[in-house]
Amino acid sequence: MSGPLKRDPRLVALSHDHHQVLARCREVTLALDGVQPRDPAELAAEMVAFSNGELDSHFEAEEQILVPPYLARAGRNRLVETLEAQHAHIRELGARLAGAGEDAVADCLSAWAEAVKAHIRFEERELFGAVQEALSEEELEAVGRGLAARGSGPACAL
Ligand SMILES: [Fe+2]
Repeated sequence: MSGPLKRDPRLVALSHDHHQVLARCREVTLALDGVQPRDPAELAAEMVAFSNGELDSHFEAEEQILVPPYLARAGRNRLVETLEAQHAHIRELGARLAGAGEDAVADCLSAWAEAVKAHIRFEERELFGAVQEALSEEELEAVGRGLAARGSGPACAL
């Protein structure tokens, strides 16, 4: 699961997305810590747009391209349930952030960024390793083609 397993090249597009997503989370953390202060409402609006746009399309790619072949191999297990629960939770936190009043924006930004970071850690340390061990070469090829067909994704859109 965690450890030295090298990321399969067919999954690299998703890991590349993760780097971009973490950069947005870092912006939030630096702003909330006062290191790079931002107008909270403006920052929240940016992150809501990001959450509904690039981040959601990243989640959809995982749900539609990565999860089905893994489910077929491994069945519904803790890893799949964790992914689904975390995606749902992060979407809910995005919606909460969108509706947050002035006094709640900082807490909502923080909750959103922390949940996103924890989710990426889970995928990089547990899920992706399990997926690349469970899938056949042909299945990994199909995942790679599916991810390539969805376009450049958030990584290149930023
Ligand atoms: Fe992800």
